[in-house]
Amino acid sequence: EQAWTEIARVGDVPEDDVIEVTVGERCLALFNLRGTYFATAGICTHAHARLAEGYLQDDIIECPLHQGLFHVPTGKAVGAPVSRDIETFPVRVEGGAILARLP
Ligand code: FES
Repeated sequence: EQAWTEIARVGDVPEDDVIEVTVGERCLALFNLRGTYFATAGICTHAHARLAEGYLQDDIIECPLHQGLFHVPTGKAVGAPVSRDIETFPVRVEGGAILARLP
C-alpha cells in the first residue's frame, strides 16, 4: 500500500539544493534540481551519514562522511565507497505542496 504524502511546500527547498525531511520514522532527502524535485532516502547506504548535509553538484550528491557519490534521479551508487543504491521515491507537485509516494 503506497500513499502520496505531503513532505514539504514548494519554496522549502531552494533550486539546486537539498533539505532533509522527516516523515514519521523515515528520513528523506528532498532535492530541487533545476526546478525538478527528487526524493531519496536521507541516510547513506555506507554508514549513518545524512545526505542532505552532503555536497550537491548538478545531479550528484556527495556523502559528507566518506565522499561516496549517488546519482540523485536514480539513486544509483556511482562513486566509492558506496556500492548500494539509495532508495528513491516518486514525487509530484500539487498546488503548493510537494508530495512523495512512500511505501
Ligand atoms: Fe556515506 Fe561512508 S557514510 S560514504
